[in-house]
Amino acid sequence: MTRRLAGLTLAVALLAACTALRERFPGPDVLFVATPEAVSLQMLKVAAVTAEDLVFDLGSGDGRVVIAAARDFGARGVGVEIDPKLVSVSRDAARAAGVESRAKFLWQDLFVTDLTGATVVTLYLRDDVNLKLRPKLLRELAPGTRVVSHDFDMDDWEPDRVERVRGPVREHRLYFWVIPAGAAGTWQSRVGEGAAAPLALTQRFQMLTGSLGADAVRGRLSGRRIELAAGGLTLRGVMRDDIIEGEATAAGAPALRWTARRAS
Ligand SMILES: C[S@@+](CC[C@H](N)C(=O)[O-])C[C@H]1O[C@@H](n2cnc3c(N)ncnc32)[C@H](O)[C@@H]1O
Repeated sequence: MTRRLAGLTLAVALLAACTALRERFPGPDVLFVATPEAVSLQMLKVAAVTAEDLVFDLGSGDGRVVIAAARDFGARGVGVEIDPKLVSVSRDAARAAGVESRAKFLWQDLFVTDLTGATVVTLYLRDDVNLKLRPKLLRELAPGTRVVSHDFDMDDWEPDRVERVRGPVREHRLYFWVIPAGAAGTWQSRVGEGAAAPLALTQRFQMLTGSLGADAVRGRLSGRRIELAAGGLTLRGVMRDDIIEGEATAAGAPALRWTARRAS
């Protein structure tokens, strides 16, 4: 092999290695800007974090949200960060705070992170990055998982709540969602001892529309909890697999048991 050919072969091999490395460790989608401590605390309060929770901060920066979840709420936390220096800073800070057994940090692209087991996800990214992440959140997170995003929304996925928090220099917005269960389809609904009536539901994120017998239905989901308004009735229940159990109320009448069984 001539020197020239050997040089060319080496250059091609190096380029392929760089491309593979870049695919594995792409650059950050957003630069590091820390959430003020008081605002991170409020994010965890909005999500009602407890010691039972596993909190994932996607794009965890210096680790402050995960460390606060472990230190101040007794939760377990996982920070996912693409910058190895920030991962190292976070691990040191978790050790200094005495929470290294409950606060773990992964050097990883958040778009490939396995979110299994997360009960709370916190974000401080950007609106376009949230939008790119949205299908993964809806696909991988269990119904009932709480998501809080600092300053950035999720386009047409309306938040369940928005809170404004005063930080040291400006006002911050916290957007809150609960991952909805899947309720779309047809159900056989029964109120009290009445006859079964067909309930047809169409779902867009947590919002529900459809019909119950001849009445139009509007409603929403919060995780597995469902609330519907149909005719003069309010139906509230919890979905477990293919059954909803709860109660039906109408103005001036005692509450009745409500059940619905999935038909399709
Ligand atoms: C605005 S900072 C937020 C840091 C921290 N969550 C907080 O609230 O203080 C965003 C962080 O996301 C990281 N990041 C950007 N793109 C990422 C990606 N694809 N995977 C993992 N981390 C990423 C950045 O390096 C940066 O530290």
